[in-house]
Amino acid sequence: MEVWLKSKGETVLREIGIKEGQEILDFGCGSGTYTQIASKIVGNEGKIYALDNDEESLNELTEKIQTQKITNIEIIKTSKEIGITLKDNSLDVVLVYDVYHLLDKEDRITLLKEIYRILKDKTGFLSYFATHIGYHGIDLEEVKKKMENSGFKLVKEFHKPMFHWSWIEEGTVYSYYKK
Ligand SMILES: C[S@@+](CC[C@H](N)C(=O)[O-])C[C@H]1O[C@@H](n2cnc3c(N)ncnc32)[C@H](O)[C@@H]1O
Repeated sequence: MEVWLKSKGETVLREIGIKEGQEILDFGCGSGTYTQIASKIVGNEGKIYALDNDEESLNELTEKIQTQKITNIEIIKTSKEIGITLKDNSLDVVLVYDVYHLLDKEDRITLLKEIYRILKDKTGFLSYFATHIGYHGIDLEEVKKKMENSGFKLVKEFHKPMFHWSWIEEGTVYSYYKK
């Protein structure tokens, strides 16, 4: 776990397509495990928007940002309602990691619409870490259909050791681009 957090996680995110200078939304960032790794990769020229509705998690992330003097993470605290205050066609990547299953059916569709709106045409991609398959009404084939119906096409699929909750597990991450 420590090795993953210190170095392997960065390798994994780079393999998934996170690069220097990108602007990324970490939707449902929690206390920011992926936010922090991505912030290291994108560097001073890039930016991470860390969005969550949970105050406690965001306070934890704020503390880490302050102690580590990180300058490229902006926190967005929301109500649970899906509505993202970022511009159209402005982001390189949206991370949807271990959060999709927590949304109800309507919110899943609203979220995909919002992600479609804010991602850059052609180069922007939605990175979906598929967790809790078979639970919370998550049927992978249905998720894939929803993505397709929301204007996305599946371009790549990665099988990687991923941080999930408080452990590392083999996970699948899908890259969806706008059609
Ligand atoms: C299981 S945690 C995953 C955190 C992080 N993405 C990770 O992989 O480590 C799910 C997070 O999604 C957030 N969340 C759930 N529903 C949300 C919503 N409607 N809007 C924003 N955040 C939400 C929760 O507050 C929680 O912090």
